[in-house]
Amino acid sequence: MTKRFAKLIIASLLALVAGSAVAAGAGAKLEASHVNIDDRASLQRGAALFMNYCAGCHSLGYQRLARMAEDIGVSEAQAMANLNFVGVGYGDLIGTAMTAGDGEAWFGKAPPDLSLVARRKPGGPDWTYTFLKSFYVDESRPLGWNNRLLANASMPNVLWELQGSARPIYAGEGAGVTIERLETVSPGALDAEAFDRVVRDITTFLTYVGEPAALKRERMGVWVLLFLVGFTFLAWLLKQEYWRDVH
Ligand code: HEC
Repeated sequence: MTKRFAKLIIASLLALVAGSAVAAGAGAKLEASHVNIDDRASLQRGAALFMNYCAGCHSLGYQRLARMAEDIGVSEAQAMANLNFVGVGYGDLIGTAMTAGDGEAWFGKAPPDLSLVARRKPGGPDWTYTFLKSFYVDESRPLGWNNRLLANASMPNVLWELQGSARPIYAGEGAGVTIERLETVSPGALDAEAFDRVVRDITTFLTYVGEPAALKRERMGVWVLLFLVGFTFLAWLLKQEYWRDVH
């Protein structure tokens, strides 16, 4: 009995290890975002950054402004004044002013809805984090920008004033040419560390948007664990009580 139990535990541990190895393999070229959706200040900064720099093109079609304000801890007045660049009602979904047709005409591709982007991309939030840090100058592209992670992306580097601009340093020859790294050509308003924080905040916000319930679930998890511990103790007391009669 105990042997079988031990085997079961070992098997589950192995499955866990294998699972994380696969996940790590899929995101091999991605940078770790280290997002923490419980970091409320980061969430609030990320929401403001998103509304400033992204909402003009991207919608969050499953997210209501009111729910977001409540979850990240800002009042209705603050949300309407500072987080509502697209002019939706407080109870409305966060759309974008841009129509799909305009998006296609202007960028060759309509900017996709970003509600679930932090979940559906391989590597999860790390994909978005890396994507936002991977833009480089490319005069052959219509808007003058390309992206190392998403080759020939039709999105321009909307954060270039903060980040500065970079050019690619190539390695290899012929068909095997790859971009080895990006080199800054002109610095932006922020240094590398501050820019990383901006990108992390936006990614944190998009991670929350991808699963708003995760905030509550994580907070509830602690209580569930405490309950289980308490219940186990009660069950143990009960067992002592029963077995006293048996002995
Ligand atoms: C000027 C319009 C515009 C702005 C502003 C903009 N984007 Fe984009 N974005 C696009 C377009 C167009 C695409 C489609 C790129 C492609 O697939 O070639 C895109 C794609 C993306 C993708 C990939 C989505 C997917 O499903 O493949 C992410 C992530 C993204 N944008 C994040 C952001 C974030 C975060 C901001 C704000 C910092 C932002 N974008 C601002 C136009 C924009």
